[in-house]
Amino acid sequence: MDSSSTGSSMNQEIDLDKLPKALFWGKLSLYNWKGFWCFPMVMKSVLAFQSHFEARSDDIILASFPKTGTTWLKAICVSILECQSKGDDHDHDGGDQTDELSKKNPHACVLTVENNVYGENISNPDDILSGLSSPRLLHTHLSYSYLPDSIKKSNCKIIYITRNPKDTLVSFWHFMVKLLGPYPFEKAYDESVKGIMHYGPHIDHVLEYWFEHLKMSEKILFLKYEELKKDPKGQVKKLSSFIGRPLNDVEVEQVLWKSSLDRLKDLEVNKTGVVSHYKIPKNIYFRLGVVGDWKNYFTEEMERNLDEITRAKLEGSGITF
Ligand code: A3P
Repeated sequence: MDSSSTGSSMNQEIDLDKLPKALFWGKLSLYNWKGFWCFPMVMKSVLAFQSHFEARSDDIILASFPKTGTTWLKAICVSILECQSKGDDHDHDGGDQTDELSKKNPHACVLTVENNVYGENISNPDDILSGLSSPRLLHTHLSYSYLPDSIKKSNCKIIYITRNPKDTLVSFWHFMVKLLGPYPFEKAYDESVKGIMHYGPHIDHVLEYWFEHLKMSEKILFLKYEELKKDPKGQVKKLSSFIGRPLNDVEVEQVLWKSSLDRLKDLEVNKTGVVSHYKIPKNIYFRLGVVGDWKNYFTEEMERNLDEITRAKLEGSGITF
């Protein structure tokens, strides 16, 4: 999270002085680069990702704006692939604790490309990628327009998850308070309505994937956190079929239990330690996991204002939250 490290090679390619700049959390510099707010180190990763990544047709790319259900989506996909490769006849009352998620945090199972493959101080991205078994399951927080052409042109699948912007903001605020220290919710709200969150504006991120999904529904699956909560079995069935690994009812139950918040937050592997080279504590990825927690933080005026901004941006797109 050290945004001051711009690196000389990046200064040759992106002139930060020419980009709109904003202060994030009162202390970190964010830059608006091609429509989205980024830390300098992420821009550097994007350039490396764009110029070096070679997609395979069986790659599965998970994509999300932060705090919209990334951890859950990673866990579900890990479980689907594992369930199919092993054959899964355990029932959860038997307490099967031998799966990959019992040994590794979901973020260690599925790498976030801009952080864990092309991130700062990583010297061997090709080795990391070639060490992954097929089908490669990878994740990104980047907007669709930042993705390498190799992903856009290949037959690989993309699964995008999104979430109600109000719950996303509350989740984001809790996460950032734990990571960067106290910050008034009102200020985080003010910044978010201006779109100033890393990888934001949130709704622009959603719209890019949404419109690409409308053009290529066989390539991009669009999921909502709220729909996963409401109809987990139906959504997991849809997801598993989309990636060519259809599950039966027993397998769907297994995947849902293995990837559940209650299970994951109580696993030893997720209680202590850090994930990724940014040293993010593993346990802060798991909090309440409910729909509507925003009601405990938003004033009526905040609700009206953000709803209006969201409605105006989404108008005519066909998406609602
Ligand atoms: P809350 O802060 O609202 O509880 P991300 O994974 O994109 O960082 O999003 C984090 C949000 O997803 C947090 O929401 C977290 O509690 C919730 N979450 C994490 N793991 C989950 C799971 N297995 N099932 C449902 N929600 C989960």
